[in-house]
Amino acid sequence: FGNQPCSFVIFGATGNLASNKLLPALFHLEAAGRLAENLTLIAFSRRDWTVDSWREHIRSVLGDKIGKKLDSPVFERFLARFRYQKGDLNEVESYHALATQLSPESACTRTVFYLAIKPADFAAVVQHLEAAGLNKPRGMSRVVIEKPFGEDIESAQTLNRLLHQHFDEEQIYRIDHFLGKETVQNLLVFRFANTLIEPLWNRNFIDHVQITVAESIGIEGRADYYDRAGALRDMLQNHLMQLLAVIAMDPPPALEADALRDEKVKVLRSIRPIIKRAVHAHAVRAQYVGGHVDGHAVAGYQQEKEVEKNSITETFVAAKFYIDNWRWGGVPFYLRTGKRLAQQSSLIAIRFKHPPQQLFRETPLERVAPNWVLLSIQPEKSMRMEIHVKQPGLDMDTRVMQMNASYLKTDEQALDAYETLLLDVIEGDRSLFIRFDEVEWAWQVIDPILKHWAVEREFIPTYPAGSWGPAEANRLFDNDDQTWRNEV
Ligand code: BG6
Repeated sequence: FGNQPCSFVIFGATGNLASNKLLPALFHLEAAGRLAENLTLIAFSRRDWTVDSWREHIRSVLGDKIGKKLDSPVFERFLARFRYQKGDLNEVESYHALATQLSPESACTRTVFYLAIKPADFAAVVQHLEAAGLNKPRGMSRVVIEKPFGEDIESAQTLNRLLHQHFDEEQIYRIDHFLGKETVQNLLVFRFANTLIEPLWNRNFIDHVQITVAESIGIEGRADYYDRAGALRDMLQNHLMQLLAVIAMDPPPALEADALRDEKVKVLRSIRPIIKRAVHAHAVRAQYVGGHVDGHAVAGYQQEKEVEKNSITETFVAAKFYIDNWRWGGVPFYLRTGKRLAQQSSLIAIRFKHPPQQLFRETPLERVAPNWVLLSIQPEKSMRMEIHVKQPGLDMDTRVMQMNASYLKTDEQALDAYETLLLDVIEGDRSLFIRFDEVEWAWQVIDPILKHWAVEREFIPTYPAGSWGPAEANRLFDNDDQTWRNEV
């Protein structure tokens, strides 16, 4: 376990992210024997709890996720690692109290500070860590910052400057958990380990690219964050832009952190800026109203707890981008994401051009379909290709067939993104974390849309919960024969 940290502090320990992602991932790492014996986990939260009430809390949040393992020695070992620090993110005394909890019996000062909190609180925490001397000796601790990093380009730059006042770049882990997903990393392998794919991966053969991250869940009690953020900041600026970058980038000279990031940045820099009067043609926003998801009636966004009355926060966004470089010139990239859509589905759908010659004239027009490559990230983890084959029979007719490869073999299970990424933080591997220029260029692309929407505040289109979003999303398409691909 070399020079691994000996304390891991979770700010926002009782929040949604900690309960749904961090605690299960840490437990799985425990079960896999990946946590050093001397690692102490410290839960920091405002609640007036003791360490015992905190342990009860873990039992209840992990209960339905790990089932029988709740009675195992591994779980007891996991619980025993925890300390609990009651504290207020905005009071420096809480940080002094925290300091007394950090591995008091060892000389080890290496600590991970995980900011699983609202972006609005990032700055306060970083400043208080400094005030309480918790970032000393400089270079020893690591700080993990969740997305969205800033709420526009200026605030992202300010936050970055502030971080650099107190931490070196090597200590900063800007997390985008989509990069930790196995199927997202598989994109690199799919593209760069197969001769079959890469020669076609450009404007000569590809008609357009679609990236969909559809969720059937709502905002899950996170109104105080989400109502300020909206889908553009919550998902598109980070997760979807990262997917776009990985799909569109050139092969890096080596699989190293900076080489990969350099290529991603080149893509982000090449995205054509959207001028003010083009925002309407390039971006669509909408908000869900009541409807049915999976057969259950669900409330509209404005009826969600703690959402502001008449909020115009978007819960759906679709956008069109062009990457102005030799590989992608003229190929539209259509991105969309939303809450309370018909089903959970993250899908990259790549449509190829029609063959230059239509030789098989007996195929009825409605069956003349182009080739698609469908890379499903979740819940299905698969790679599919739609190709034409001959329709058996006397005529020279064709039909579409899917070649379908599951990413996982039946006895395999994908690691959760947070397991991979938390282990990387603990082991000090930053290759799957985001460099600031990536964040900055992604904001650069998004900013004109944000600014335009910020002044157009009186109206937002709606879509019924359980649908595929507003009809307006169809107006982004360049051609009549382009439509959203919802399913694999
Ligand atoms: C988070 C967003 O970053 O990603 C959430 O804040 C979203 O709103 C989540 O639900 C989706 O991630 P996953 O891995 O559960 O698909």
